[in-house]
Amino acid sequence: MGEPIGIIGGTGPLGTGLALRFAAAGLEVQVGSRDPERAREVAHRLNSLLDGSATEVGGGRNQEVAARALVVVALPYEAMRATVLGLAPELAGKIVISTAVPMSFASGRPEPVHPEAGSAAEELAEICPGSRVVGAFQTVAAGQLLDLRLRLDEDVLVGGDDREARKEVANLVQRIEGLRAVESGPLATCRYAEGLTPLLLRLNRLHHAQTGIRITGL
Ligand SMILES: NC(=O)c1ccc[n+]([C@@H]2O[C@H](COP(=O)([O-])OP(=O)(O)OC[C@H]3O[C@@H](n4cnc5c(N)ncnc54)[C@H](OP(=O)(O)O)[C@@H]3O)[C@@H](O)[C@H]2O)c1
Repeated sequence: MGEPIGIIGGTGPLGTGLALRFAAAGLEVQVGSRDPERAREVAHRLNSLLDGSATEVGGGRNQEVAARALVVVALPYEAMRATVLGLAPELAGKIVISTAVPMSFASGRPEPVHPEAGSAAEELAEICPGSRVVGAFQTVAAGQLLDLRLRLDEDVLVGGDDREARKEVANLVQRIEGLRAVESGPLATCRYAEGLTPLLLRLNRLHHAQTGIRITGL
């Protein structure tokens, strides 16, 4: 079964995509929202897409799902600081996964934004210093996760300062069929994973494709 997973901001494309894939893998997962009713509606919709072998997705207020054993933060970067600050007590001592990609579309094209901390993941670690922050999933397109007919075939970089936490997240990534976890080293390496996503989005547009990453030579 694995540890119960809570997804803060779990009603967006990435949170719902991850919830769907985790549940399909038999993991216990709950999507969070500012509005518990919306979270329950989203959970209901996800359950209607899953077959009997999957675990049932739950839904609740962000504060409630932050109490789960392992927490994914799937909020827009701009909303991360304010939201997570209010949840720091619930997150203390836990593995917290950063998925945020700081990006702007000011020029009409995706451009990386560079947080003062170095990356969104490092900023998250500053916001909740009592948590074991690990970055993952920044390069995975939500649309790919959300279509269960699609067989995933890509790598996920996993960066974090706490080796044990990093290993646990790598194992979690690999519970999703078709994803391979590649540990990238300390949390500071998340700036590279986050920086890849604007490039992938440009490639998607240029090649009318849905791109992901694959590290060769391992
Ligand atoms: N979408 C992708 O393909 C993708 C891929 C890789 C990484 N990422 C990263 O993953 C994160 C989530 O992406 P997403 O596309 O799922 O994001 P999103 O749809 O923009 O937001 C996710 C959820 O966050 C909550 N939220 C939005 N604004 C908020 C605010 N001001 N304060 C508090 N909560 C707020 C909303 O939930 P409620 O309204 O229900 O509270 C929303 O459903 C982002 O940081 C993104 O960079 C996304």
